[in-house]
Amino acid sequence: MDSEEFRRYGHEIVDWIARYMDEIEHYPIRARTSPGDLLKALPTAAPETPESMDAILADMDRLIMPGLTHWQHPMFFAYFPSISSPPAVLAEMLTAGLGVNGMMWETSPAATELETRVLEWLRDALGLPSDFEGVIQDTASTSTLCAALAARERTLNYRGLEDGGAAIAPLTAYGSIEAHSSVEKAVLLCGIGRAHYRAIPTGADGGLDLAVLKATIKADLELGHIPAFCVATLGATALGGFDDLKAIGAICRDHNIWLHVDAAWAGSALLLPEQRWMIAGIEAADSMVMNPHKWLRTTVDCSVLFVRDVGAYTRAFTILPEYLKTAETGQVTDYRDWGIALGRRFRSLKLWFVLRRYGLHELREMIREHIRLAAAMAATIDAHPDFELLIGPRLALFAFRYCPAGATDTDALNEALLSTINRDGTLYLTRAKVDGKMAIRWSVGQNNLTAQHMDKAWTRVQDIAGDLSRTS
Ligand SMILES: Cc1ncc(COP(=O)(O)O)c(C=O)c1O
Repeated sequence: MDSEEFRRYGHEIVDWIARYMDEIEHYPIRARTSPGDLLKALPTAAPETPESMDAILADMDRLIMPGLTHWQHPMFFAYFPSISSPPAVLAEMLTAGLGVNGMMWETSPAATELETRVLEWLRDALGLPSDFEGVIQDTASTSTLCAALAARERTLNYRGLEDGGAAIAPLTAYGSIEAHSSVEKAVLLCGIGRAHYRAIPTGADGGLDLAVLKATIKADLELGHIPAFCVATLGATALGGFDDLKAIGAICRDHNIWLHVDAAWAGSALLLPEQRWMIAGIEAADSMVMNPHKWLRTTVDCSVLFVRDVGAYTRAFTILPEYLKTAETGQVTDYRDWGIALGRRFRSLKLWFVLRRYGLHELREMIREHIRLAAAMAATIDAHPDFELLIGPRLALFAFRYCPAGATDTDALNEALLSTINRDGTLYLTRAKVDGKMAIRWSVGQNNLTAQHMDKAWTRVQDIAGDLSRTS
């Protein structure tokens, strides 16, 4: 492809994306395809000869679009948001166009130094301690795995790097039963192992039960185990619960346990001074993850891991073969030592574009509005005699269920309600369990979301619920 063709299709694709953004509300939110549909439509081998861009773009519309779920749709209330934005998309184009691999300072000094400065901006804007330093990873799962690896090595005095550390007593790790599955996965992958992961129950407030945590650590110590890693979750995935960071921090300090904070979703709300209650006690944390790719308009993927003691952290990842030595080694930041991968996309560019193009004030107002819309809808649902608010609102998340008078199997009714809503295509909601009851999660956080969208979604929920009651 020469630059003339590139320019032509570049313009065409930007027009295509802009049209998609303008028309997104006309798409059914969820894909309407069945398993295997695309596989059946695609050739089984790559073409030997070049195809035209026209043919490729036609197949984009014909084959790919019907199989997509529209995460940027204003009425996407499923999971957690993963919002993109035009500045982030433009920065992604530049990132791809430059094709820079920022594995270390020398391979693109600007990529390294922009990442450092943008993460200082973000840290300060979130009200995090000034001794936190950040690094961009692909996902929170990777960030938490890196924290677990560093925790393991610090606890083993870096013996694991030498001989695996198997001769040392088993290490143990802790998180609440509401912690994201990536926490357990990190514990498995870092070698601590499933048998040594303690999933601590939560108390009435949805946070990790501190008495059980203390007793579990004590029991582990009595068995000769070494407590190494603990995760406090701020804004748990299913129901948005918050662990008591301050109290967990005190316990971790007493036992020299690496405390990692998972604020993958809720971390963006720290832009709002009135939400900083959740990080009381953050001084005791060794690391924290938050994902700008969830709620901060920075196209997936962009997860930020903040660490307090960079030396203790990077020691777990540093390896220096001859071919990676540079004149500046040891005097500059080489982000290859801050994680698993050597090669690194230039992700800081999109965060820089987003922070500059919107400014902190507008981002704050967006999150504040999401929290306000969630509170208003939760109150409306709570006031309805046929619906029950089960959880929240916690930031911009709440959970509810339909329970009209005379309903006999409320769980089945809500299963039917959720699947009918999601087949309908007007809005997209996902599920949760609250005290064993089937609940419907409503997570607010889309770009361009208005009170009218919320009202339209609520009307659709009530209509579908009413139809179900009449036909059941
Ligand atoms: C609290 C929490 N932690 C971690 C994750 C995993 O995030 P990622 O997809 O970036 O690995 C999620 C995903 O929703 C989450 O809600």
